[in-house]
Amino acid sequence: MKSLMMQGTQILSTGSSVPDSSLSNDQISQIVETSDKWIVTRTGIKKRRLLTGSRKSVIDLAVVAALKALDKISMSALEIDLIILATSSPNDLFGSASQVQAQIKAFNAVAFDLTAACSGFVLAMVTASQFLQSGSYRTILVIGADVLSKWTNWSDRSTCILFGDGAGAMILQSCLKEFNQVLGFQLNTNGNHWNHLCLSYEEKINPHPILNVYQGSFKYISMNGKEVYKFAVSQVPLSILKCLHDLNITINDIDWLLLHQANERILTAVANKLSINANKIIVNLNNYGNTSAASIPLALDEALDQKQISNDDIIVISGFGAGLTWGTVIIQWKC
Ligand code: ACO
Repeated sequence: MKSLMMQGTQILSTGSSVPDSSLSNDQISQIVETSDKWIVTRTGIKKRRLLTGSRKSVIDLAVVAALKALDKISMSALEIDLIILATSSPNDLFGSASQVQAQIKAFNAVAFDLTAACSGFVLAMVTASQFLQSGSYRTILVIGADVLSKWTNWSDRSTCILFGDGAGAMILQSCLKEFNQVLGFQLNTNGNHWNHLCLSYEEKINPHPILNVYQGSFKYISMNGKEVYKFAVSQVPLSILKCLHDLNITINDIDWLLLHQANERILTAVANKLSINANKIIVNLNNYGNTSAASIPLALDEALDQKQISNDDIIVISGFGAGLTWGTVIIQWKC
């Protein structure tokens, strides 16, 4: 641990990765009773990428996204002090970040997983910026990666149409306060409504005959879509408004609204509530579906590749999802 008297966070690079295999709405309609029209109208999603094949995991996607981010700035992985892997679909419940550390050869980095479903990337970014702004670490790799296809009930049409697999990475570094790009954040949790969206551990009916220990396994994602929808549309604008207020930033100052890519109707409804023009919304869920912790860094990386974002642009980023958790981080882009 180094002691640096820096108090800002600089974003050095981003990278992303999606599996090759694509699943269209028409293909899903051959598995469950649905249609391209229903899915597009209710969600905006047209297709999603799935991690197919044996022995492939979230680690494979996370590693590629991380290496792309490093490659863009010709940075050696040995410079990374900390890796935070935001994922709810780890390949090992004890954590998958250490395997990412080993595979990208970031041998000087501490690595841990952070679980907060679709808010995972926002929470990981905020966590990273705290380590940077306190001077504890100099360079941090944050990855949002999920393979919810492994936890989707492919016979449940109300959820299987939504999710896709992917990973996105961001490299952050401490800097002098005047170069700070992570302007502020606002985070929330409401555990009372955890059961609106969960991937729960399910016990077997009978315990171990001698020890009375109940064992079980994780099953499938279950979701009350309507409740999650109402929660997102009501709470995300409030989080954004609180964050803007704390920073003395107005709605008019916002250049881009980058929300967790859950449903195009949620994106539009949040923007409408805040009177943010639709052309400021970053959207790529039509091609990837809801990639959970990956969705924000994946959309940001694409927007940067497409040169949508300019120097000094203010980007309002909000994640929301299981927990329930939700939160906002506001950044100012520097090219
Ligand atoms: N195809 C056709 N019909 C369907 C499908 C489908 N895939 N799914 C549901 N239906 C039917 C229902 O059975 C219902 O029929 P009924 O009226 O005869 O009962 C009808 O369509 C309406 O269903 P609703 O669930 O009311 O549909 P809704 O308009 O609410 O859309 C949706 C469902 C898309 C899931 C929406 O509620 C939503 O997007 N919610 C938010 C989900 C979300 O953001 N989740 C991710 C959070 S991120 C995380 O943490 C992982």
